[in-house]
Amino acid sequence: MPSKTCNVVVLLSGSGSNLQALIDNSRGEDSPVRIRGVISNRADAYGLQRAQAAGIETAVLAHGGFDGREAFDAALMALIDGFKPDLVVLAGFMRILSGGFVRHYQGRLLNIHPSLLPKYKGLHTHQRALEAGDAEHGCSVHFVTEELDGGPLVVQAVVPVEPGDTADSLAQRVHRQEHQIYPLAVRWFAEGRLRLGEQGALLDGQPLAASGHLIRP
Ligand code: GRF
Repeated sequence: MPSKTCNVVVLLSGSGSNLQALIDNSRGEDSPVRIRGVISNRADAYGLQRAQAAGIETAVLAHGGFDGREAFDAALMALIDGFKPDLVVLAGFMRILSGGFVRHYQGRLLNIHPSLLPKYKGLHTHQRALEAGDAEHGCSVHFVTEELDGGPLVVQAVVPVEPGDTADSLAQRVHRQEHQIYPLAVRWFAEGRLRLGEQGALLDGQPLAASGHLIRP
């Protein structure tokens, strides 16, 4: 049993395969990661079922009933903070977050994105990598700042593009890597090894490269 544990809240909108990877990787006795709650803006997100199957508390906050982004985000913050999180993990949460939200969780908010950032911020990343003729694609975990998909990088995994790849086949291989790098980054944070410094992400007190920790096949 680790001496200190890390309370984590996961936000998602969809399938939650990254949540599943986090659950599976935090089961061991030696893991300091404690996923206390999973919150979705969509009641039909399959990730909620994954959480329930693992005995994790869930909540749904539909954005429909709110008067604007700030009001929704304020309610979301209240819900998240009820779980007393040390870390908030975005795992396919399909909402743009307000500046107030991002500042509130500064240094304790991580996101995963399906590209080698800073390439291909936003959507349709696999298709865009194929159309550009890239030889390499991949995924990135980063601290969240007010710039969309733009915060300091923690870890990236490179996925070679293969002849005949479609957006789907590429997405599948990228997803497999996501399931490796997100639990790794969350564990580093939970162990107190990873933090956001003034100039960027620090691992064991040392600045990470601009690309974050880079994993190649
Ligand atoms: C992942 O591709 C992630 O990079 C992006 O949203 C997707 C979520 O997938 N932010 P899942 O719901 O974890 O399967």
